[in-house]
Amino acid sequence: MMVKNITPPDSTSEDPSAIVRLVNVHKRFGSLLVLNGVNLTLRKGHTTVIIGESGAGKSVLLSHIVRLIRPDRGEVYFHDQRIDNMPDRNLSKIRPRFGFLFQLSALFDSMTAGGNVAFPIEEHTRKSRREIAKIVQEKLAMVGLDGLQENWPADLSGGQKKRVALARAIALDPELILYDEPTTGLDPPRADEINELILKLKRELGVTSVVVTHDMASALKVADRIVMLYRGDFIFDGTPDSIESCDDERVRCFVHGRCTPDAL
Ligand SMILES: Nc1ncnc2c1ncn2[C@@H]1O[C@H](COP(=O)(O)OP(=O)(O)OP(=O)(O)O)[C@@H](O)[C@H]1O
Ligand SMILES: [Mg+2]
Repeated sequence: MMVKNITPPDSTSEDPSAIVRLVNVHKRFGSLLVLNGVNLTLRKGHTTVIIGESGAGKSVLLSHIVRLIRPDRGEVYFHDQRIDNMPDRNLSKIRPRFGFLFQLSALFDSMTAGGNVAFPIEEHTRKSRREIAKIVQEKLAMVGLDGLQENWPADLSGGQKKRVALARAIALDPELILYDEPTTGLDPPRADEINELILKLKRELGVTSVVVTHDMASALKVADRIVMLYRGDFIFDGTPDSIESCDDERVRCFVHGRCTPDAL
């Protein structure tokens, strides 16, 4: 299904199944307009995949959801709370409910794998060392890295680093997990392990997920819904099945890995 000028009907109204709503979000850096009035509602328990070419603004969009970036104009809601203009002290209560897997894993090199996973628990809770150790072990086991607590990031493969970063992202049992390019740089089997983990966390923890990716195999496998960002707005919003039959040339080029006719 191709959609032009998408303005979801639920984007400005209360929707009990909505966990996040972006309403008319605009963002510009100097003369570069990155988001031009974006509307997006994320439904509880769903996995939404955001695709789009490099520089389209996918990471910028993700950062608005967790308020690492504020919009120039527009609104961002988490459940029924507006977060784009919320004071920092209130936001700090909400932040632990988000898990963020950063584009380049972003592990702390001076901490072991276990230390990385323990970090958000130490920051946000008053749990004892014993309780924290138990959670760290559970989360590492969940991503298939049981026993690697004492390993240093420098001694882990790219796929293992991503999985430690994922264990850290779920350390506080978040309601919403944001994945920025989770499979980039991994060989196809390692990339598919990450896909399987995304599906497992949805199935076992019931989390809502947003996945930014260039990897169409991953998008088609994990998505309930795919949206494509192009020049500041969405040009596609639909199911994995419907994107494969979409007749918009810009979407087709992306899905089939071809450059657009005007690219050269
Ligand atoms: N803090 C910033 N200051 C200035 N420009 C920025 C900033 N953050 C992002 N941009 C610009 O905004 C545009 C969108 O960036 P973004 O990182 O969201 O792209 P992306 O779609 O995630 O690309 P990629 O697939 O390569 O990760 C880019 O042109 C980038 O240079
Ligand atoms: Mg990015």
